[in-house]
Amino acid sequence: MAHVAEIEIGVSSGMNLPPYGPGVEHVTEFDLSEKMLAITRRRVAEKGIDRVELHHGGARTFDLPSESADIFLSTFTFCTVPGLLAASREACRVLRPGGVFVLAEHGRSTRTRGRAVMCAIEPLSIRVSADHIARDPVPYLMSAGFTITEDTCPQARHLWRPLRVDQL
Ligand SMILES: C[S@@+](CC[C@H](N)C(=O)[O-])C[C@H]1O[C@@H](n2cnc3c(N)ncnc32)[C@H](O)[C@@H]1O
Repeated sequence: MAHVAEIEIGVSSGMNLPPYGPGVEHVTEFDLSEKMLAITRRRVAEKGIDRVELHHGGARTFDLPSESADIFLSTFTFCTVPGLLAASREACRVLRPGGVFVLAEHGRSTRTRGRAVMCAIEPLSIRVSADHIARDPVPYLMSAGFTITEDTCPQARHLWRPLRVDQL
């Protein structure tokens, strides 16, 4: 895909940043942690990564234009977003028709015992790291107007689960 515009929430220390190919035109990054953004800024400067714009805050803070991105990326960040339906709708709004939401999440275990452990420790994980570890993002994404088009590890849902989520 040529001239791709991407938005990522939860850039953290910028582990997803390089390498961008020439087809990527612009990347808009958000994170709630100024400390993490400082690390990313250093990484961007050291590696000479261009076409990247870093913002402090959640994606909604910046009132991004509708239908302005081809890719919306979130890796292990959606589990920490409190209003998941609103965030999923926002992702859908900013994506262009045919745009793709690439999501990696641990989700909720499909194994009874794993699920029970996740549910039991979730109140603690929310308090300590804002992590809703037992929450399945899929129903929220579907309610927001997405459809799951690629599930990289359907057999490994108890571990982590990269999804490609397209607009309906
Ligand atoms: C668990 S880290 C994941 C970082 C990185 N994406 C990765 O895969 O290694 C979650 C990051 O998302 C950020 N974050 C949480 N909620 C956010 C939101 N609503 N908007 C933007 N960033 C958020 C946190 O500050 C944290 O740096």
